[in-house]
Amino acid sequence: MATATTNGPKTRIALDGISETLLWTLYHRAMEARRPDAVLDDPVGVELLDAIDYPFERRFGKADMGSAQGQALRALTFDRQIREFLDAHPDGTAVALGEGLETQFWRVDNGRMRWLTVDLPEIVDLRRRLLPHEERMRAVACSALDERWMDEVDPSRGVIVTAQGLLMYLQPAEVRMLIARCAARFPGGTLVLDSVPRWFSAQTVKGRVKTREGFVAPPMPWGMDASERWKLHGAHPNIVEIQDQALARGRGFFYTRVAPHAHLIPVVRSRRPSITVIRFGPGTAGE
Ligand SMILES: C[S@@+](CC[C@H](N)C(=O)[O-])C[C@H]1O[C@@H](n2cnc3c(N)ncnc32)[C@H](O)[C@@H]1O
Repeated sequence: MATATTNGPKTRIALDGISETLLWTLYHRAMEARRPDAVLDDPVGVELLDAIDYPFERRFGKADMGSAQGQALRALTFDRQIREFLDAHPDGTAVALGEGLETQFWRVDNGRMRWLTVDLPEIVDLRRRLLPHEERMRAVACSALDERWMDEVDPSRGVIVTAQGLLMYLQPAEVRMLIARCAARFPGGTLVLDSVPRWFSAQTVKGRVKTREGFVAPPMPWGMDASERWKLHGAHPNIVEIQDQALARGRGFFYTRVAPHAHLIPVVRSRRPSITVIRFGPGTAGE
């Protein structure tokens, strides 16, 4: 359920379930972005946070700077994948599945690309109320599991699909089906996704991931250890490459010396949250 009402210059928002987590990510990302030494430049995100009337601190706790930087670096890692794609396909289409209140369009826009937001109807509505309208931006109000959004993508100028902070909330079979459909529908395209390790997924399913303030993370039924990402090859024959994408380098010991090299550290390398880039071959659409 989502409600948004005007409260003076601010919009009061109430969300629950998985959708509420978009406020968690926005809060942390924007709190990092407002630092003078921020790892992410996100003025639209900062403005958006200020425009929302929601008890961020009471619900999620004080934005601890480790989590805030982590969220910002995750976003930056996705931004870099999109920028790399746009260097090769300046008129291409970026599809943001489960985009929530991400403000990535304004961070990566090259003035030519097309953008497609896919999220649940109440969230697409929230974006319309809270974010500027851009001509090259469209939105489809449906589940990422609904193929309707795929019909809205023009694949002729290149496609990158991102699923940032989404797939862990889906069932494993749904994730596999979504990857397979993307591989079939977007030959030559790229899918960038992040995942939580199995141990963390299990903790969320038991309701054990919570803040001191009482916010309980919703169940994340899809967990994938980084060491088993090769299994995704089996989702569709048009998957030609699967790569681990290291987290962008940040500030401080952990985000300069540990997190960007986590894929090399024994034990940790398999049991960490990770970002995966999947490339599709030229197989014919509808394969
Ligand atoms: C953790 S938030 C991530 C938001 C954004 N991508 C970010 O990184 O800040 C999860 C998002 O997924 C959306 N979502 C949940 N289930 C979905 C589904 N089946 N299809 C599309 N979006 C979904 C929620 O509404 C929410 O916007």
